[in-house]
Amino acid sequence: MPGLHMHMSARQHATYGTKLPEMSQAEHCTMVIFGATGDLTKRKLFPALYQLAAEHLLAPGFAVLAVGRESSLTDETFRTKMREALGESDEVKKVDDSVWQEFEKRIFFVGGDATDAAAYEGIKKKLDEIESECAPETRNRFFYLAVPPSVFEPIVRLLSSSGLVPRIDDPKQRPWARVVVEKPFGRSLATAHALNQLVLSLFAEHQVYRIDHFLGKETVQNVLVLRFANSIFEPLWNRRWVSHVEITAAETVGVEARGKYYEEAGVVRDMFQNHLLQLLALTAMEPPYSMTADAVRDEKVKVIRSIRWLSPETIPEVAVRAQYAAGTVKGEKVPGYRDEPDVSKDSQTPTYAAVRFFVDNWRWKGVPFFVRSGKRMPKRVSEIAVHFQAPPHLMFGGNGVGRDLEPNVLVMRVQPNEGVSLNFEVKVPGAAVALTQNIEVAPVDMDFAYAEAFGETAAPAYETLLLDVMIGEMTLFTRSDEVEAAWRLIDPLLDYWASHPADPMPTYPAGSWGPKEADKLIGKMNGGWRKP
Ligand code: BG6
Repeated sequence: MPGLHMHMSARQHATYGTKLPEMSQAEHCTMVIFGATGDLTKRKLFPALYQLAAEHLLAPGFAVLAVGRESSLTDETFRTKMREALGESDEVKKVDDSVWQEFEKRIFFVGGDATDAAAYEGIKKKLDEIESECAPETRNRFFYLAVPPSVFEPIVRLLSSSGLVPRIDDPKQRPWARVVVEKPFGRSLATAHALNQLVLSLFAEHQVYRIDHFLGKETVQNVLVLRFANSIFEPLWNRRWVSHVEITAAETVGVEARGKYYEEAGVVRDMFQNHLLQLLALTAMEPPYSMTADAVRDEKVKVIRSIRWLSPETIPEVAVRAQYAAGTVKGEKVPGYRDEPDVSKDSQTPTYAAVRFFVDNWRWKGVPFFVRSGKRMPKRVSEIAVHFQAPPHLMFGGNGVGRDLEPNVLVMRVQPNEGVSLNFEVKVPGAAVALTQNIEVAPVDMDFAYAEAFGETAAPAYETLLLDVMIGEMTLFTRSDEVEAAWRLIDPLLDYWASHPADPMPTYPAGSWGPKEADKLIGKMNGGWRKP
């Protein structure tokens, strides 16, 4: 399957021992992080960089320049901070000191406010020092905006006006300069559109990497492989055979220390506009003509645009919102959302939502896609469950003997325990019942688990995504039209809920699977929501 391999992320090639194609080698580059003293840098970016270093996936001479407002920090003290953070990270099991000692030599810090033009002289000077031994055409750089969305705009303007990121029309030109933007990209269609216009007036699309970290998850990419590298699923992947699809992203955590951000975002901006719509798009899209970034993204945009508009008349029927109330999660008593720090006592921000979408196209007409996400649920689990139609005629349990047969379900487990399972019916062994039409039937699972099959757990998403930025592979990043199509779909829901406060706001006890209103939404379909 050469086409597919060519466009797997570089990390996958290395992990599974496939020789890296020449185009996938990470080129020499420097990563500049804005927001270097923030949470994302220490929780996600440095653990991912360290792992890449440990796996020898970084180009020789790769360097990180961290930019932050704490001007008292030096290269030395910043390195110490990041070393401590690695020790606390769940994503790095064991830090190998020899790897760290080599890697830390290439970590640098410069103090400065990235929204202030004066800081850019210091950044340039430091970059010149770091790259002093590099040939000009190898001075590739990417600028990672791990900063609040309110400062995206001034920073991209300054990156351009300072000359650090010139517009480069030819993707083959060297050195390259790229910008990586964290989510949320805008907070509505209008703001995302304005931001896209600004960014694309300064840089070419191929220089802009919009992160949706769900796309970096191994199993999310596997959705396409499962669908398009096998011939047994695709013939069934349509309205004739699929009864409904359930997409879940459940978390046990509450809003933690992010009350301020979350009050503004809520679950729809935080999870639906990006991660969940991406899962839906990959599940429902048509086969792309190749696995190149634009071919895949074209198909995703098409399918997002085919999702039925959520009109104010239908929203009360197709969408449910709720907040977690006090309860118990994993044996621990936790407060309700309105009692979390930085959350208003009469907050209208939903921490849970469930929406029934329809994809109005030839393949999916009439098949509901039930999508839900919530904080403080009993279990951390993200999955896509494709429920197939019941068999047309039940000769066994359905004919008045025993239970109804359960339709087949294909579950793609995004996390944890990444893998795929197919549920189907088998005959219970034994001859307890003499008549063939009365034989006992039971559901069983055929299961594939990544950890068992490949002897390792999936790589954290940021590792895959950072390496892809370094090699210029854009398939796992969202394009401007894709982001806007997602906002276009979500905006009416946000507007409707903002202008129709819930009175009272439905709640669910922390540690439960959501409000009763959500059960009504899915109704009796296959026994209601899955409890994975
Ligand atoms: C982030 C959201 O994008 O995704 C968080 O802002 C959420 O609120 C997180 O917790 C979930 O990602 P993961 O990879 O932990 O499932």
